[in-house]
Amino acid sequence: MALVRVAPVPQLGGTVRVPPDKSLTHRALMLAAVSDRPVRIGRPLDSADTGATLAAVEACGARAGGHLGHEVEIAGRGLRGLRPPPALDCANAGTLMRLFAGLLVGQRAEHVVLDGDGSLRARPMTRVARPLRAMGAVVFTAPGGTPPMVVSGGAPLRGTEHRLTVASAQVKSCLLLAGLFADGETWVHEPAPSRDHTERMLEASGVALLRGDGAVGVRGPVERLALPDIDVPGDFSSAAPHLVAGALLGDPEVRLDGVNLNPGRTGLLAVIRRMGVDVREEPGPDLAGEPAGTLVVRRSGGLRATEVAPEEVPAMIDELPLVGLLGAMATGTTVVRGAAELRVKESDRIASVVGALRALGVRAEEREDGFEVRGDGRLPGGTMASAGDHRLAMLGAVAGLASLDGVRVDGFEAVAVSYPGFARDLAELGAVAA
Ligand code: S3P
Repeated sequence: MALVRVAPVPQLGGTVRVPPDKSLTHRALMLAAVSDRPVRIGRPLDSADTGATLAAVEACGARAGGHLGHEVEIAGRGLRGLRPPPALDCANAGTLMRLFAGLLVGQRAEHVVLDGDGSLRARPMTRVARPLRAMGAVVFTAPGGTPPMVVSGGAPLRGTEHRLTVASAQVKSCLLLAGLFADGETWVHEPAPSRDHTERMLEASGVALLRGDGAVGVRGPVERLALPDIDVPGDFSSAAPHLVAGALLGDPEVRLDGVNLNPGRTGLLAVIRRMGVDVREEPGPDLAGEPAGTLVVRRSGGLRATEVAPEEVPAMIDELPLVGLLGAMATGTTVVRGAAELRVKESDRIASVVGALRALGVRAEEREDGFEVRGDGRLPGGTMASAGDHRLAMLGAVAGLASLDGVRVDGFEAVAVSYPGFARDLAELGAVAA
């Protein structure tokens, strides 16, 4: 396990082009694999998670040329043409396991075992298995509803109305993909809107979606889809650690170029602004059918504590750990509520965020559905554990920059799940590993 120490710095500045979007790369690789036409994906993310997705689609017979990080061309197999092997390794990627299950139920596939690493093996899959079964699919999980998940394809599927109890783009996407193969209308109702990347990509691929009453649906069976060539914008969730570093130390400013600014992803901006941070959005051309642009952030004198309300959670689900760090550097009590989902991410992010902040000398408490941080504008420092979670490892590094004594991050290598070049990019802005 890599132990990295990040030293405090007086200020940070410069420009980073953050890595491409993980959610969009997973989806582009999967939809290209079932497209009728060859698809060129410009700048797909090169990371452990997306590498697992590329390997999975290749194992199912899609032919891929080029390299992640640069350009990949996929010769797909058509909507019903995947030929899965008996087992697929989803590594750490919940998005791969959940979305791919939705595609597999429409393939000639018998008994495909989807498995992953220790973290993925602890994550709930009943949330996709149960509604897929309600559509007629043959899907099993391990006892407890966790991976390995076993999926068979080819059973007749019927369009079904699904009411999700938690907003989840992964579950919604899985069910819309399964709906492509079902007879009749498949609808997904969410308690609050989650990111809509799958909807945008399906529509760009020629699939007409149904909308009404805050729900989204598809009328099946759909015969074919054709994903157009796409260029993947930068990942807002990978921009977020730099954004927070800039909010704490940006002088004169930190610029983040080519970032996906889909409003379903950028909830952190509103929170950070009401804490008193000056963040500017400079819109650029759309990329992959999504708004994109540059973020410019500078430090402000003194952050104010804030409360994150449950309805704000879906649009910033992966950035909530960073709110804990901002809370530590603010004055007053910062509270996150309605975020029980954090307990079933790559780590239990309520426990791991609170544990990490406490290890660094911050007063923080777990709540069942969130956390509370009592900040006094300073962070002493120390050694924290990433818990094998990429978002925690990045939080630790940013905490080090703003700390009094530096931060050691145990398990820093977890950053490779979404952002292998994170340390290099942070160093570009002026960070020092010591
Ligand atoms: C993702 C959706 C979110 C998010 C995850 C990526 C996606 O998960 O936390 O990192 O690509 O659809 P949930 O759907 O479980 O909320």
